[in-house]
Amino acid sequence: MKAADFGDDFVWGIAIAAAQNEGAADLDGKGPSIWDAFARRSGKIKRGAGPNPGCDFYHRYAEDIALVKTLGFDTFRFSISWPRLLPEGTGKINEAGINFYHRVIDCCLENGLVPYVTLYHWDLPEALENEGGWAAYSVNGAFNTFVSLCAQTYGDKVKNWIILNEPFGFTSLGYMLGIHAPGQTGVTSFFTAVHHAAIAQADGGRIIRAEVQNAHIGTTFSCSQVFPHTDADNDHLAAYRMDILLNRMFVEPLLGMGYPGMDWEVMEKFAISHSTWRHTEKLAFDFDFIGLQNYFPLTVKYNAFVPVVQAWEVKAKSRLKPHTAMGWEVNPDSFYAIIKQFAAYPGIPKLYITENGAAYADKLKDGKVDDQERIRYFELYLGALLKAKQEGLNIAGYMAWTLMDNFEWAEGYQTRFGLVYTDFKTQQRIIKSSGYWWQDFLRK
Ligand code: BGC
Repeated sequence: MKAADFGDDFVWGIAIAAAQNEGAADLDGKGPSIWDAFARRSGKIKRGAGPNPGCDFYHRYAEDIALVKTLGFDTFRFSISWPRLLPEGTGKINEAGINFYHRVIDCCLENGLVPYVTLYHWDLPEALENEGGWAAYSVNGAFNTFVSLCAQTYGDKVKNWIILNEPFGFTSLGYMLGIHAPGQTGVTSFFTAVHHAAIAQADGGRIIRAEVQNAHIGTTFSCSQVFPHTDADNDHLAAYRMDILLNRMFVEPLLGMGYPGMDWEVMEKFAISHSTWRHTEKLAFDFDFIGLQNYFPLTVKYNAFVPVVQAWEVKAKSRLKPHTAMGWEVNPDSFYAIIKQFAAYPGIPKLYITENGAAYADKLKDGKVDDQERIRYFELYLGALLKAKQEGLNIAGYMAWTLMDNFEWAEGYQTRFGLVYTDFKTQQRIIKSSGYWWQDFLRK
């Protein structure tokens, strides 16, 4: 298998995110994000880590973008930090932040790399969290202001825009389970955050369409094939509900189908009793592409004690399945299956894989990192992708996660996903065997 098997115009990219890579969290006028605050207060990030130092991309972006080029990718996906541009969330603009992303974009273009810019990769300004964050409708007006600012500032140079990174990820982990920033918990904050994120996603698309000529607009969804643990009816019910939450909750309203699962008592009850789901006319938007982000499938069994879904994950390890350092099951067939599940929606024009990758316990030995398991992971997953593509599914590109080991949210710096090893003490970058594997794979 070679990159050329995917066709000449297939896009090959690599992704990073502002809060995970930039560092410089309180430099040059940047305001605090919910992750800066969560790191200070929550005690929920491993070893008390936070977005500082990250990979110091703020100062080393030129070196890192040159690395993307060296590895052979043609596209670079990065995100804009909202509190770096608007320290208070709205209002005062931070010129140093504006200039930083001009430099990053120019550097991509000088290197012949196509920038794909994500507008929201989880770093909400803390000032907005103080008003309720994604659980308050005021976030939508603020988000629209931020999107307009980005479109007007960078729209001449950037044509590829991604509105949200994994809305299910940040609403479930941050507003229901409280294990990610901002650490809110409960069903009410979750469903209200879901609804506001769903509106933001479509509004963001409309704004970019209106402000940027020839824009190519998408948004991304996390997705996981869901299996019932046994054939029992209850386990099937658990899997059905989990599939609604994990895979259908955001894409269906976007496609004009409304929220899924209104036959599911909890959804219906929530919608009526909280009368939260207003402005439903804003949920649909005609995106140019949908980005899928897949890491693992999920096997679930019924558990009456779990709120909302009544489903409980049966971990890969306990089922003796191969898994990564995150405990996530390695299952390329499920990657193929979930791509097919999304491709089956008639309203989806084309798909990109905007993230896929794996964490392993990388060891630096004699100045090298020989991460054979990660190479195997990519071989398997790209094989599954090629199969889907050869069957005629409209898949236009693939972006690996991630360029270099970075701040892995609640896992801190312990979990490494990069093709490049980061020494967080010296900020030295060392290309892993998987990086060289990609270089070879992409050689035309
Ligand atoms: C997120 C990334 C994250 C990766 C691995 C994705 O859900 O978009 O920011 O690092 O998963 O956990």
